[in-house]
Amino acid sequence: MKDRLEALKQEALQELEQAANTQHLNELKVKYLGKKGPITEVLRGMGSLSAEERPVIGQVANDVRAAIAEGIEAKLEQYRKEETERKLRQETIDVTLPGRARPAGAIHPLNKVIEEIEAIFIGMGYTVEEGPEVETDYFNFEALNLPKDHPARDMQDSFYITEDVLLRTHTSPVQVRTMQRMKGSIPVKIICPGKVYRRDDDDATHSHLFTQIEGLVIDKKIRMSDLKGTLQQFVQEMFGKQTQIRLRPSFFPFTEPSAEVDVSCMMCGGAGCRTCKQTGWLEILGSGMVHPRVLEMSGYDPEEYSGFAFGMGVERIAMLKYGIEDIRHFYTNDLRFLQQFVHI
Ligand code: DAH
Repeated sequence: MKDRLEALKQEALQELEQAANTQHLNELKVKYLGKKGPITEVLRGMGSLSAEERPVIGQVANDVRAAIAEGIEAKLEQYRKEETERKLRQETIDVTLPGRARPAGAIHPLNKVIEEIEAIFIGMGYTVEEGPEVETDYFNFEALNLPKDHPARDMQDSFYITEDVLLRTHTSPVQVRTMQRMKGSIPVKIICPGKVYRRDDDDATHSHLFTQIEGLVIDKKIRMSDLKGTLQQFVQEMFGKQTQIRLRPSFFPFTEPSAEVDVSCMMCGGAGCRTCKQTGWLEILGSGMVHPRVLEMSGYDPEEYSGFAFGMGVERIAMLKYGIEDIRHFYTNDLRFLQQFVHI
C-alpha cells in the first residue's frame, strides 16, 4: 500500500510538470485529491489494516496528499505570477500622455452683461430685485398709469393668458411691486433685470422674448439731474470714459417728463458711421421722472417724494458693446457664437 501511494505521488508530480495551464492544474487537483480520487480510496480502505500498520500508512497517505497539493499550489502560483506580468507588460499606461479635455460650460454672454450692469449699479448703492414673468394687467399696465383702453398700450403688443393675466411686456411692473412692498419708506434704489415678452416678429433687431433692466430711485428731492448724472456714470463704466449721453424728450405714461437716452457711438466716437446711421448717437434706454400718479397709486405722496426711473434692453447694450449684428444669436445657442464670450 505504501508503494502504491509512493507511485501515485510520482505519477501526480510528473503529470504536474507537464500541466500547461491553470485549467489543467485544476483538473489534476480533482483527479488526485478529489473525493473520488485514489488517495481518498486508500484512506477508505484503511479499515482492513492492522492496528500497527494503520498510523504508518495514514501518515504516508497524508504526506503524499500534502506533497501533491503543495506541488499544484506552487505551479498555480507560478502561472498567476506569469499572467500578472504578462498583463503588466501588455497594459502599460503612458502617464505622460496629455489628458483629453472635457468641454466645460460657461456663462451665457447675456448673463455676463447683466452681471456687469448689476455690478455697476450695486457700486452706486442699488439693490437687485426680481418679479414674476407672468404678470397681472394691474402691475404691468394699470398701476403704471396705463388704464384699460389707453392708446399707449399699443406700444407694447402683449401675450395675454387671460383677460387679466399676461406675460409682462417690460420690467416696469417690478417698480410697482417694490414700491408697494416698501410701503412708503425711503430710499427706494433698485434695479431689476429679467425676461420680457412682446408680440413682435423676430428679426435681426427684434425678439418676442428679450431682456430688460429696470431702474427706480425714490427719495426726497430727487431731480432730473440725478437721473442724468447716474446714467452718465453708468455709460462711462459700461462703454468707456469718453462716452457721452444726450437726453431727448419722449413720452412714457409712467414718467413725466420722459426722456430717451442716447450714447455717443462707440464705433466711431461720434463722427458718424454705419452703426449709428451717420448720426454719431445710439439710443439705449427710456427714462424719466416717475409720474405723480404712479407714486400716488403705490403709496408715495408726490408732494413729499419724487423719483426717476429707466428701462434698458440688455441685448441692445450687449450688441453695441460687442459688435453683435443679430439679436437671434443670443437664443440659438450656436457654440461658435457662445465660445467667443468664454474669456471676456
Ligand atoms: N418700460 C419701458 C419700455 O419697455 C422702458 C422704460 C421707459 C422704463 C421709461 C422706465 C422708464 O422705467 O422710466 O419700453
